[in-house]
Amino acid sequence: MLVALLPGDGIGPEVLVEARRVLDAVLGDAITYEEAPVGGAAYHAAGHPLPDATLNLARRADAILFGAVGDPACDSLERALRPEQAILGLRRALGLFANLRPAKLFAELADASALRPEIARAIDLVIVRELTGDVYFGEKGRRETADGLRQGYDVMAYDEAEVRRIARIGFETARKRQRRLTSVDKANVLETSQLWRDVMIEVAADYPDVALDHLYVDNAAMQLVRAPGQFDVIVTGNLFGDILSDQASMCVGSIGLLPSASLDERGKGLYEPIHGSAPDIAGQGKANPLAAILSAAMMLRHSLGRAADADRIEAAVAAALAGGARTGDLGGTASTRAMADAVLAAL
Ligand code: NAI
Ligand code: MG
Repeated sequence: MLVALLPGDGIGPEVLVEARRVLDAVLGDAITYEEAPVGGAAYHAAGHPLPDATLNLARRADAILFGAVGDPACDSLERALRPEQAILGLRRALGLFANLRPAKLFAELADASALRPEIARAIDLVIVRELTGDVYFGEKGRRETADGLRQGYDVMAYDEAEVRRIARIGFETARKRQRRLTSVDKANVLETSQLWRDVMIEVAADYPDVALDHLYVDNAAMQLVRAPGQFDVIVTGNLFGDILSDQASMCVGSIGLLPSASLDERGKGLYEPIHGSAPDIAGQGKANPLAAILSAAMMLRHSLGRAADADRIEAAVAAALAGGARTGDLGGTASTRAMADAVLAAL
């Protein structure tokens, strides 16, 4: 099994090193790793945020473990050369259309949530976000109205094949959990959402064991704060998923805790913490490595067929937190290395 390690910028390399230590402790040399630069690091080394050699490694690998990209020193570059283009380029080139973002509260961290602890404790959900369609990828441009006003436009569109494949990921994810799937749309005003809803209902016929319901996105945003414990799996489009998943992340405490997976049609995936390169704390040994470590666990489960090892890592993270280890984002003083050491000790 070949894993591509793409550390990137800022705290990306700092947290990926720790994820690698945890993987080594669990798997020994069952995995081969190859590393390549991405983002600002790649721009400085090779003149492009996603060099061909990096993209080729990502294509060859069975899975990709990604740190973060983003470098203030690249702010003045034209858009195509900015570090952030690397992650968009990887999603596009590899057809990573399904983004899975689990949000689960570690019981010890109820006080870190933006919600009241008794509400926060109930959170254990996964958001399945479509990643390669919707208004982000539709035709966009500037034009002039009949009145001579400047106008910007972005076309929102989904075809039924795009909806069907993300629906299947939603149902399959729910099937492995509590068997409840909530499809989030805005079908009261959007034609795109009406098709989305029709296709969800069609696909549901293949999953009689999963209970499907539908929510409008505005109500979903409200329910996520009011009673997030009601959700098991949420499936939604690119735009709504972008917003709801960031909202859900604040319900479970720090951004330094949350992993994600981006999958293609065959289950190959790119795994990354949801946070960015955090230039404000980079190079100080302060970053929380748990999001990266939990991303590595997701990689074992979803792409490498090692679910039991993933369970072990997740249990060790919970044990480390129960033992009191806390980085600065969680109100503690542990360094990146010390936090990972606590996970290794629990393993
Ligand atoms: P960010 O996630 O890097 O940081 C937001 C805040 O959270 C900062 O105060 C940071 O110190 C803190 N933080 C983030 N991760 C942490 C961790 N593991 N431990 C402790 N604290 C942590 O988001 P921001 O500041 O908006 O973006 C910084 C750069 O990262 C930008 O260039 C942005 O474009 C890029 N970015 C890249 C992403 C990716 O690689 N997928 C995702 C999001 C942002
Ligand atoms: Mg976002």
